[in-house]
Amino acid sequence: MKMVLASQNAHKLAEMQEILSAQGIEVVQESELGLAVNVEETGTTFAENALLKAKAVMEASGLPAIADDSGLCVDALNGAPGVYSARYGGPEVDDLGRCRLLLENMRGMTDRRCRFVCAVCCAFPDGTVVTAEGECAGTLAYAPRGAGGFGYDPIFFFPALKKTFAELTSEEKHAVSHRGAALKQFQERLTAYLGQTVEA
Ligand code: IMP
Repeated sequence: MKMVLASQNAHKLAEMQEILSAQGIEVVQESELGLAVNVEETGTTFAENALLKAKAVMEASGLPAIADDSGLCVDALNGAPGVYSARYGGPEVDDLGRCRLLLENMRGMTDRRCRFVCAVCCAFPDGTVVTAEGECAGTLAYAPRGAGGFGYDPIFFFPALKKTFAELTSEEKHAVSHRGAALKQFQERLTAYLGQTVEA
């Protein structure tokens, strides 16, 4: 099955492509179709934003389109940065700047519990929508560590492996990550919807 990935984030794209290809889904990027659909993420939940993105790209391409929306929710900050994870601190701040800002806003806080959340949505041209969600619980580190991954990975400490996400290989991260969990559930639901196993 061919699907368009509604994302221009190179890191996320690579991670999703890796996971979905392993599940036998042929992934086409928006750019390969000459598309760059700009969707305003006006939803208040990850699921709402994923649906907005998937629908817009499905409508523009005429193909099933898959989108995800994800972010980091910190308990002591009432779930912030949440759906604003990519925009935390404003448009001029980069990934490391956002990590530093979050650490600054968490200064003195001992409750470091946080979780990555990922919602995945596939919108089909016939109006069908398949959705899934995954979470990964961790704790917020006190300083960035590791050079892998992207976004908040250097400050997301995963206790079971005693490493930040930025210290994991991409395979190790997929095996436990919110995106890995969401895509696993997504593949199960997609298979159930199609009534057949999705194979290459
Ligand atoms: P989105 O592109 O609107 O889904 O924004 C997701 C944002 O959440 C990213 O820009 C990152 O800041 C953060 N994020 C989501 N997933 C991850 C992850 O796996 N590692 C690190 N940061 C992530």
